Amino acid sequence: MADRPPVRDWATDFDHTDPTWVADPYPIWDELRQACPVAHSDRYGGAWLPTRHADVAAIAYDTDDFTSRSVVVTEYRPPNLAPRGIAPPITSDPPFHQGARRMLLPLMSPQVIAKWEPSTREYCQSLVHELAGREVVDAATEYAQHIPVRVIARMLGFPEDDADRFRGFVHHVLEDVTLPLELRLPGMQELFEYLRDQVKDHIDNPRDDLTTALLNADMGGEVADLSHVGGTIALLLLAGIDTTWSAIGASIWHLASHPEDRDRLVKEPDLLPTAVEEFLRAYAPVTMARLVKHDMDWHGCPMKEDDWILLSFPAANRDPEFFVDPDEVIIDRTDNRHAAFGLGIHRCAGSHLARMELRVALEVFLDAFPVFHLDDPAAVKWSAGQVRGPRTLPVHIG
Ligand code: HEM
Repeated sequence: MADRPPVRDWATDFDHTDPTWVADPYPIWDELRQACPVAHSDRYGGAWLPTRHADVAAIAYDTDDFTSRSVVVTEYRPPNLAPRGIAPPITSDPPFHQGARRMLLPLMSPQVIAKWEPSTREYCQSLVHELAGREVVDAATEYAQHIPVRVIARMLGFPEDDADRFRGFVHHVLEDVTLPLELRLPGMQELFEYLRDQVKDHIDNPRDDLTTALLNADMGGEVADLSHVGGTIALLLLAGIDTTWSAIGASIWHLASHPEDRDRLVKEPDLLPTAVEEFLRAYAPVTMARLVKHDMDWHGCPMKEDDWILLSFPAANRDPEFFVDPDEVIIDRTDNRHAAFGLGIHRCAGSHLARMELRVALEVFLDAFPVFHLDDPAAVKWSAGQVRGPRTLPVHIG
């Protein structure tokens, strides 16, 4: 990651890649919510950061004033590929967005996802089997990381041995965001070529998998063109891997540092689905971006065309005006309308898959290691960028 000057003032100079934010963003958002709920920064060519749930929701629902043309904040502005954007439906605006989303939703329904649960469980069990007998393991890189990669590779019908390459693509697109464009392009090109080859192979040899289903899916009465399908597949790889890895890792981190919650889940496994929602709320991994469509005064903020909005669903989830005791993790919290999967028309299309992976990953880990704790809290490292989760997580399981 390129060197960046330290943040001078969070209200006027914020940077989500600053080491202080990366280590612990919650106090920053708390302070901003009280002092300056929509912060501004000249970095990245101009960016705004709403920290209250009401403001995050208002922007997420407002597709007239904000575009999803790019959802990752970088130093440059992406080309205008409207109405589709590079990775439909996440980069598409209405009205195109609706068809692109409808083409995907039936392929990610609860019924479809339920079919993947047994093989996901089996895979998680094989991972804990490998770890058993060791004293300290890295639960981020030796456990959480592998699960979503394997599941999505199987669903798409891609070679499972390419897992390391997928992780490389994801890291490049979502974490190397401060690199200049000329250093970001070759990685994007590699992803594009990889997907082109996979899609071609599926056209030549159709089979019963998600890639073939997308190639044949109905997009407003016809099949989508190849670059649309390629963009959606890229999105599924990028949207499904770091996000779920982060959610599994953050949940294990919580349980490794809160033995009372860990013990309770071991004794009351039926509570797991409720606890999963609370982990998603409290440690929501995904922050999205929007671009301002035109100059305007937005509730007193002088927004300019092409300013970024860093749309922090994680900050919304910690707003005391929306949640009681938001900084407390209450694993049996029942009233939990969290925004971890987003709000509005772009709400996560993979939420059933993500929830299944998260629940199964935790169930299997708790079953194999009912007593575990952080080996060295200071050694835990969190990712920088818009997807937050532990990337080094040494846990004592022995
Ligand atoms: C815990 C894991 C996950 C979290 C927290 C998460 C979060 C999100 C969020 C916040 C959005 C909204 C984007 C926006 O408003 O711009 C989103 C959209 C999306 N997610 Fe997820 N996601 C997760 C896992 C997945 C998985 C596993 C997949 C599929 C493999 C997936 C596929 C998508 C897609 C396709 C969209 C775009 C939907 C649209 O634009 O209509 N996500 N996700």
